[in-house]
Amino acid sequence: MRLEGGLSCFSRFILSINMTSEEILHRLQTKRFGKNIHLFETIDSTNIYAKSLVPKNVPEGTIVIAESQTHGRGRLGRIWHSNPGKNLTFSIILQPNLSSKYVGIVSLYAGLAVSNIIGRISHLQSECKWPNDILLEGKKVCGILSEASFPQGSPMTVIIGIGLNVNQTEFPPQLKRPATSLMISCGNEFNRIDTLCEILFELETLYPLLDDAHCNIIIERWSKQSLMLGKEIEIEQSGRLSRGIAKALAEDGQLIVETPDGPMKIFAGDTTLV
Ligand code: BTN
Repeated sequence: MRLEGGLSCFSRFILSINMTSEEILHRLQTKRFGKNIHLFETIDSTNIYAKSLVPKNVPEGTIVIAESQTHGRGRLGRIWHSNPGKNLTFSIILQPNLSSKYVGIVSLYAGLAVSNIIGRISHLQSECKWPNDILLEGKKVCGILSEASFPQGSPMTVIIGIGLNVNQTEFPPQLKRPATSLMISCGNEFNRIDTLCEILFELETLYPLLDDAHCNIIIERWSKQSLMLGKEIEIEQSGRLSRGIAKALAEDGQLIVETPDGPMKIFAGDTTLV
């Protein structure tokens, strides 16, 4: 739900206080996702805590959410910065019916769900950037860190960690790439609980597509929301830079790039539009 401008002092107060599990459950429209909540004022990383829950057989769709992370983790060993109480930093535990070869599609699925909600609540065109960033006005508004494990004899378990910049208005100058938040891009504060509940609802709605037979639909929909396909990009892989035209996503979610040396499939790294 988008909160329109002209908020009273009271609504502003409501927007800035901490979240509670009761409030989340009260507004949640899902059947399973987010029904089991582990909420922390401060934790090292919601992904790390979620991993510790996996052997305890918590229900699928369990979420771990924190107002503040002391060791928020990003991709490629980076740190995720998020000002306490301003944004959404949470992880969800899922067990998709997906072969290990399609594990790369998990991040695309989460990116698609978040991008759909950002587009809906901001009324701005949000963009999926391979492999797992969401951009608003060309700046990063959300990052996703998916971590999978393959326990013997059980389905794959994935922890999807989502960091969405909601009401933060300033970012550390040392960030490698420009960042934005919903508030910076739209000019008004957003209710974090409503935003969380909408994302969980969208994740649950798209979840039937996250299996071997349907994940091509995720690729198709993700590709429609990506501005990079067909354009020249720079790829950074372990400090090595290369350039090429981003052609398409392969069926396993890898990026196919046409380089001067021929087509190349990329499974990890960073991409930037040239
Ligand atoms: C990236 O863009 O590099 C991915 C960032 C992922 C950040 C989220 S915040 C919630 C979850 N817990 C973590 O420690 N990381 C993810």
